Amino acid sequence: MTTVGDIRGTVQDRRAVISLLRRLRSDEGQADPLPIWEGMRALGDVVRAPWGGYFVTGFEACSQVLRGRNWLVPDFAWQERQPDPERWQAPATREMTRTLPRLNAPTHTCQRRALGNPFDRTTLESIRPRVATLAAGLLDGLEERLRADGEADFVTTVAEQLPLLTVGDWLDIPPEHHAHILDFTHRQVYAQELLPTKSELAVSARATLEMRAYFTELIRQRRARPGNDVLTGWIHHWDAQYPDDRAAADQVIYDLTMFITIASLETSAVLLANAVWFLTQDPSRAAWLRRHPQHIDDAVEETLRYDPPVVVNSRVAADDTVLAGTPIAKDTTVHVLYGAAAHDPRRNPAPHLFDIRRGGGHLTFGGGAHYCLGAALARLEARELLTQVLERFPTLRPLEPPAYDTSRVVFRRITSLRVTA
Ligand code: HEM
Repeated sequence: MTTVGDIRGTVQDRRAVISLLRRLRSDEGQADPLPIWEGMRALGDVVRAPWGGYFVTGFEACSQVLRGRNWLVPDFAWQERQPDPERWQAPATREMTRTLPRLNAPTHTCQRRALGNPFDRTTLESIRPRVATLAAGLLDGLEERLRADGEADFVTTVAEQLPLLTVGDWLDIPPEHHAHILDFTHRQVYAQELLPTKSELAVSARATLEMRAYFTELIRQRRARPGNDVLTGWIHHWDAQYPDDRAAADQVIYDLTMFITIASLETSAVLLANAVWFLTQDPSRAAWLRRHPQHIDDAVEETLRYDPPVVVNSRVAADDTVLAGTPIAKDTTVHVLYGAAAHDPRRNPAPHLFDIRRGGGHLTFGGGAHYCLGAALARLEARELLTQVLERFPTLRPLEPPAYDTSRVVFRRITSLRVTA
């Protein structure tokens, strides 16, 4: 009989998982992760991870983990209970453990309540014209490049820039600082990998110092010269919560500003680049959508489903439990595989078909208490950009498939998408 906490899965299964994960860090695996999701799901809904814990591959099981109250995020308290707590001592890892996706109730609840829904309908409507203008400006730049050189990189000219300009505008971050923010974001992200190497952690540590210096100074300046912006609002709120402890207020304001900014960049850039790649690699798709612009939101949802920008997310069992028939002991880690879940044929029939009208399900923005704070903003950016791309570039097409950063597993990054028109 299997008792809670037993190591399940055969040696062959574990070898298969290792080999699939290796493939994910290769050009071939990044270019087409679908066979990897197939391979993982073929091993079961809940698959033993080689280093302990489990991968969750089935849609229902992933949804249960993300939304269920008996699952927590791995916070500082959980790290300290582990047999090897030193594994989480790297400065870059500790920096991330203080942020929203690594906080549990009551601290998490308190921070999310204070933020409210920053992108409710009214706010989105007020932001929309500005996002449209920013997208139009970037597409002017794309047009110029295409005219001058006959080709352009859609990622560096548009997809990476729109999220940066949008979040920069929202938080009133000077445009001359944007390139620096994007640069440390790309390097900091390694601390959030599943098993970062020492050298990756060192890269992350340097980026973390730059990130801390940058946002600390930004907050100091905003305190000195308050504006009528979101960041000033956060400063007022947290100063009032900690009237006698400026350091505590500054810490929360830093954690929120830093994390919300970096969380909005690579993720949205992948969505925007993927949307253009999926639509233009088959010109009939773009042509169809041009004739049926009422389906632009559906195209965005199918892009989010087909290739989630966040690949893995981790939770830990709050108590001994059973997940899709697998007994899981309290404190065990499970890694939700968003792509495998979205390509589960039990939830999305013919899952590998990119079908704008499928009305399929995905978990790309997570679920439950930690549901992505910026989902509505990311969708708005995608909708505005796609609308204009379809109108302005009827013959836009990729010169080759996108290039990916192969050193990543947890966060996908498209490094370039060469296009012509
Ligand atoms: C396509 C773009 C995006 C994707 C795919 C994405 C995906 C995700 C995912 C998977 C999570 C974890 C959810 C969970 O644990 O259940 C998350 C959390 C989060 N996202 Fe996003 N995100 C995107 C854009 C954004 C943007 C634009 C912002 C900010 C403006 C943002 C801010 C956050 C924050 C603050 C959290 C932490 C929420 C919490 O733990 O309470 N994201 N996102």
